[in-house]
Amino acid sequence: MVRALYPGSFDPVTNGHLDVLQRASHLFDEVLVAVANNESKQALFTAEKRVELLRQSTASMPNVRVTSFEGLLVNFARSQGARAIIRGLRAVSDFEYEFQMALMNRSLEPSLETLFLMPSEEYTYLSSRMVKEVCRLGGEIGRFVPDCVREALLSRFPGQHPASELSQKQP
Ligand code: PNS
Repeated sequence: MVRALYPGSFDPVTNGHLDVLQRASHLFDEVLVAVANNESKQALFTAEKRVELLRQSTASMPNVRVTSFEGLLVNFARSQGARAIIRGLRAVSDFEYEFQMALMNRSLEPSLETLFLMPSEEYTYLSSRMVKEVCRLGGEIGRFVPDCVREALLSRFPGQHPASELSQKQP
């Protein structure tokens, strides 16, 4: 039973994250998505909400579980018996940060490998930060995120969108 950890902020999860997750789920017995509950990073959604949105978005992936964690990633990975960390790599611009993080994690826990997976090219420009900005400024985000995330975002930025776009459901 080989378990991989897919950590991130997921504020919120996008179709790019789900593409990477789908690929990872074909390689490992189990993929545990780990939402970082990091006080120092200003998130739009609470960790609980980010976990809920991920659970809804991954309901059709039988070997994927979702949870949140605090503290060092390597400690959490050890506590879960994970053998690998999955990270998505979109463009060269991601590389330096990811390289630093992978080597830092390796020096903290040499037995844990970081694996990079490339999302489909249609998602190489996609980021949670940009999806939030587009939604905040009234743009349509339906192509970039699952429906539950679109609804959650629309209800956070209701003033920018016609009432007809808003669901009755509030977060
Ligand atoms: O989606 P993100 O924001 O790029 O994810 C970054 C994340 C959460 C994976 C990273 O910040 C992390 O692992 N945080 C936990 C604290 C930690 O272990 N820091 C040292 C890693 S270099």
